[in-house]
Amino acid sequence: MVKRKLREPLEDRKGSLFFDGFSVKELVEKYDTPLYLLSEKRIRDNYNRLHNALISNYKHLRVYYAAKANSNLTVLKILQSEGAYLDTVSPGEVFMGLSSGFTPDRMLFTGTSVRNDELKFLSGANITVNVDSQSELDRLLKIAVPPVVSVRVNPEVVAGHHSHCITAGPESKFGLTEEDALKAYVTAKRARVERFGIHMHIGSGILDIEPYSLAVEKLLSIAKRVHEEVGVEFEFIDIGGGFGVPYKPEDKDLDLSEFSSKIVAPFKSKVKEYGLGKPFLCVEPGRYLVCDASILLTTVNTVKSTPSKKFVGVDAGFNTLVRPTMYGSYHPILVANKVAQADKETYDVVGPICESGDALAKDRQLPLVEEGDLLAVLNAGAYGFSMSSQYNSRPRAAEVMIRQGKVVMVRQREQLSDLMSSQRTAE
Ligand code: LLP
Repeated sequence: MVKRKLREPLEDRKGSLFFDGFSVKELVEKYDTPLYLLSEKRIRDNYNRLHNALISNYKHLRVYYAAKANSNLTVLKILQSEGAYLDTVSPGEVFMGLSSGFTPDRMLFTGTSVRNDELKFLSGANITVNVDSQSELDRLLKIAVPPVVSVRVNPEVVAGHHSHCITAGPESKFGLTEEDALKAYVTAKRARVERFGIHMHIGSGILDIEPYSLAVEKLLSIAKRVHEEVGVEFEFIDIGGGFGVPYKPEDKDLDLSEFSSKIVAPFKSKVKEYGLGKPFLCVEPGRYLVCDASILLTTVNTVKSTPSKKFVGVDAGFNTLVRPTMYGSYHPILVANKVAQADKETYDVVGPICESGDALAKDRQLPLVEEGDLLAVLNAGAYGFSMSSQYNSRPRAAEVMIRQGKVVMVRQREQLSDLMSSQRTAE
């Protein structure tokens, strides 16, 4: 018998896994696998923990949830009801945000390579845009002069859990350099834009506060120049998302009180020192709010050995959770019906997709796994369902949420007919 360290909403009850008080085995009997299981309570707790830690050092705070992490309508509604704002990157996310009760004044759009018709849509919907290039700004101004303009700058400080998730520095396609940002504000001023913001997002999955703090310092020094040289007053300063979550056993939690004292408190004093008034401090967390609020449940179909490896074949592959394949990401895995059993064997946990890269875990220590066992892939709430696909013509998974002690289906499992839903046959 082993006692594993499980966090809320997970619990070991006599060797079997419970989630927010419900037996995952019983949920799977009803809803089948692959199944994303979500906890409303954990989403609310994550939001409040982050919000409270930051606001303790700076009152003018806005927490924009980055919808891309998980754009389920119920997730959006929950965060809307907590008072969150919303960061969007596509008309689709704006549409989902509006549908879940976010008003346009509670949304930002931080896209890249944005089409003209998308800019027209944003302008018509009165949504503030963090422009990613001079080209985007010029095209936006041609449509109509927006009441607010915000420029995404590249603070030349990098961070992130994988090269794909570093969104600043010399190799990055995102944002404007300091000099180009100055020019963009001059353009906006000349066009008689009256209200302004400034934005950065350096990367995703940051557990180390140092790079973040350097980037915020740089952002503020750019804001100071824009203020002094172009005469811009900032209504908001947006330091982006990227708040990390521990995935690997050796990862530590992001220390929120350290983040607040090393980033938010100096932000407050620098803003004062630079004469920047009282702008809102905006943050854009995606992962932090939803990652550990969801697990992916998947059934073991096959256990097989080759001369060099032991494989556990499950019914979720990179069509369901792409992060391990795409970034080599580590997700903790539990055998949900054997939580109290010690690890005995080393397995590759692989999916049903016909590609060798289709693995949820490589060389993973697990208890002895048998056909019919149920695996729980933890930390699946961020960039899990939202990055899933129908590859290999597999319908997408269902999502079920525990809400106030009840089990609620928040996304139906796709059916075979959904595979054809937008297709036409050429006669
Ligand atoms: N704001 C902007 C402008 C962003 O581009 C992103 C994420 C966020 C906020 C939220 O970042 P977060 O707090 O979630 O780290 N698919 C990758 C992550 C890509 C993130 C892209 N941008 C993954 O699964 O790790």
